[in-house]
Amino acid sequence: SQARIGLIGLGVMGANLSLNIADNGFPVAVYNRTSSVTDEFVASSGDLADKLSPAHTLEALVASLTTPRAVIIMVAAGAVDAVIDELKPHLDKGDMIIDAGNANFHDTRRREAALKNDGLNFIGMGVSGGEEGARFGPSIMAGGDIASFEVIRDILEAISAKHNGQPCADHFGPDGAGHFVKTVHNGIEYADMQMIAEVYGLLRDGDKRPTAEIGKLFEAWDQGPLNSYLIEISGKVLQAVDEKTGNPLVDMIVDKAGQKGTGRWTAIEALSLGQSPSTIEAAVAGRSWSSEKETREAGEAIFADIQPQAGAETLSDADLEKALLAAKIIAYDQGIKLLAAASEEYKWDLDLASCAEVWRAGCIIRSALLDDMASAVREGLPHTQLIFAPRFAQIIREGSSALRRVVASAALRGLPTPAFSNALAYFDTMRMGRGTTDLIQGQRDFFGAHSFERTDGGKGHHGPWASDVAHSAALTD
Ligand code: 6PG
Repeated sequence: SQARIGLIGLGVMGANLSLNIADNGFPVAVYNRTSSVTDEFVASSGDLADKLSPAHTLEALVASLTTPRAVIIMVAAGAVDAVIDELKPHLDKGDMIIDAGNANFHDTRRREAALKNDGLNFIGMGVSGGEEGARFGPSIMAGGDIASFEVIRDILEAISAKHNGQPCADHFGPDGAGHFVKTVHNGIEYADMQMIAEVYGLLRDGDKRPTAEIGKLFEAWDQGPLNSYLIEISGKVLQAVDEKTGNPLVDMIVDKAGQKGTGRWTAIEALSLGQSPSTIEAAVAGRSWSSEKETREAGEAIFADIQPQAGAETLSDADLEKALLAAKIIAYDQGIKLLAAASEEYKWDLDLASCAEVWRAGCIIRSALLDDMASAVREGLPHTQLIFAPRFAQIIREGSSALRRVVASAALRGLPTPAFSNALAYFDTMRMGRGTTDLIQGQRDFFGAHSFERTDGGKGHHGPWASDVAHSAALTD
């Protein structure tokens, strides 16, 4: 029998996604560049083997599909163009290619436009949830031709994670919309991870708490409002013991963070859109700085004399929990605002509530908070600010004093908390009707005649800054 869907690329993610599709009753044709990988995969798939048809050539893969054909590609980001070029000649007008990897949405837009010229449809589809998610239920964020998406919607919904029975899979808009939503998901993932690591640092270096005890604290927090996948696994990571040395395993890990690029893309795209998701930027910075380990070690020697300042409070666990909750909400606020800005720029008409809804299960940032966030977005966010929505404004109001104590204490103790600090600076900026950029406008007008808007009305004003002409002249003499 013919398969409704094909998949190219049997790495861990592709293999698990194929098994998931087969497990949900859909026959799937699978292909890997190295044929032995394909054969071994099918041979080792037990009861699911009869739903998997191995193909040794792309021609055979395409021939085994019903029309319009749907082929998922799950390969390394750098190989996507080459695979599309190889696959394209075998497809007919109306067929679709689905890129399920983490792609830069600009690439997705380019590919979608190019394939459209050939009469082919392209779906850029973000898939979150790691290996486990791919096998048993990921969160799926698709973009591209809606009619094509509808052809495979039942398959995607079936294989996706469910939140109270509702599938965490959706189509968000044309061209790169799905991959953009996935990118912002990853940006938030970076911020979430960074903030948890900052709490770990305060407890480890500030309070000298044993690693496993910090793990236990996270485990306890996972039962409360911070309940989330990332808090859960952080508790487990901190309690793991190294078999070789008996030390906490995390102590044996070199503190240099890897990054494949999605967090950085989030920050870059945000900046291009005139946005600044400072918590995500801080998380990207934290990873980048971490890679300069030798420099940091040199810095530690140069500044070894710097001691914690007087007045640094020891923080209560409850303060840390509240601060983490508040900062996390601020990170989501920034992510959602970025989605709104991109939607406007690229005319995607993104359903922001639906973004929060597909993140409720299956993905890496899934958490108890997301259900409430989705409802708040559905009700309409004042000024597109999640932190202004009444239910979140209340949490932030309560949490902000804890956040202040955490940031102040960290600063006095000399412990870096870039994401927490940036969350607080953003919050304090957004609740201050009159800021300090009147001076910046004055400076710009002074040196560059950039003009300013007056508080009593009217744009295009200049100085006069006459008294400084003589002074400036003196400086240049
Ligand atoms: C997910 C993850 C996944 C992957 C990222 C992590 O949603 O399942 O985000 O896509 O783990 O590649 O990115 P870094 O390697 O940049 O941390």
